[in-house]
Amino acid sequence: MASSDKENERKTLMPDLTTTYLGLSLKNPVVASASPLSRKLDTVRRLEDAGASAIVMYSLFEEQITHESHELHHFLERGSHSFAESLSYFPELEDYRLEPERYLEHLRRVKQAVDIPVIGSLNGVSPGGWVEYARAIEQVGADALELNIYAVPTDINVSAAELESVYVELVREVRARVKLPIALKLSPFFTSLPNIARRFVEAGANGLVLFNRFYQPDFDLEELEVVPNLELSTSHELRLPLRWIAILYGRINADFALTSGVHTAQDVLKAIMAGANVSMMASTLLHNGTGRIMHLLNDLQEWMEVHEYGSITQMRGSMSQGAISDPAAFERANYMKALNSFDQYVR
Ligand SMILES: Cc1cc2nc3c(=O)[nH]c(=O)nc-3n(C[C@H](O)[C@H](O)[C@H](O)COP(=O)(O)O)c2cc1C
Repeated sequence: MASSDKENERKTLMPDLTTTYLGLSLKNPVVASASPLSRKLDTVRRLEDAGASAIVMYSLFEEQITHESHELHHFLERGSHSFAESLSYFPELEDYRLEPERYLEHLRRVKQAVDIPVIGSLNGVSPGGWVEYARAIEQVGADALELNIYAVPTDINVSAAELESVYVELVREVRARVKLPIALKLSPFFTSLPNIARRFVEAGANGLVLFNRFYQPDFDLEELEVVPNLELSTSHELRLPLRWIAILYGRINADFALTSGVHTAQDVLKAIMAGANVSMMASTLLHNGTGRIMHLLNDLQEWMEVHEYGSITQMRGSMSQGAISDPAAFERANYMKALNSFDQYVR
């Protein structure tokens, strides 16, 4: 067989890596998660060159917005088509280009710099004027919106039910403002994750991003200070989102993105088999550079070829709770078995 024929044959046998997420057609299931990697256009282009199928922007925080709502209102009410244009209409605003405005302008530039979908990100917990920024993110051209909700409740009088209602209301408010698909990035710390997931979807979320990873302060014992600390993840952290996507897949009518602990092609495969539409990566890209995506995609393709999987779609959900022969493997029943397996270590 001539070498070009061989090459053609290999191409026809190549597994189909395409997937869909939030109504977007993506060339593969590897998405760059929200991180400082989206802060520079050069890095954003490198993410695309390395093969990322979409990019989630770093978040604009509620705290960065609230005092800016007045200017935003002005901008939206005048109905200008882009924020950059609005700045030229209102030169006085140019002097006050604070973080939210810079964010929108940067997002617009990121959109122009790459062909892959770009997902804007808002991070906040309370309903209020700042959610207008969802509309501004839509107006500057984002393909979807990721809403990251997470509070650290310290008030002993506020119940889980009260907090959950606030979160659901927030999703409803954002939904009312945009036509964009919305994905909700959640914490794993809900007493009944399936219930709140269902309510979020009923309130208008099209996708769930499981899970956010948190800044967990440490103590400096010599200085007796609380030290801000954000460690990068390892693949071990994959198991928490893996289990929950496997449980929710088929029960909740939403797309799933798995984030936390995706470092290798195996991690991506597990995410898809649990039921995720896409897997998202931050830590490994910060640690190993954007080129990591290219290696990972090669490994992914090779694994699928060797194991004779034709497509990502074919694999999706194949290891979800509804699909496996022992659904209890995801539940409490297996806990005791796992504990007993450590008996051999007791001397
Ligand atoms: C330095 C850093 C900055 C991050 N910034 C954001 C952010 O702005 N918004 C957000 O939703 N998540 C943010 N994340 C969380 C990541 O998007 C991701 O969900 C999390 O790190 C878990 O994925 P990983 O295991 O691949 O790191 C950040 C993570 C890191 C390490």
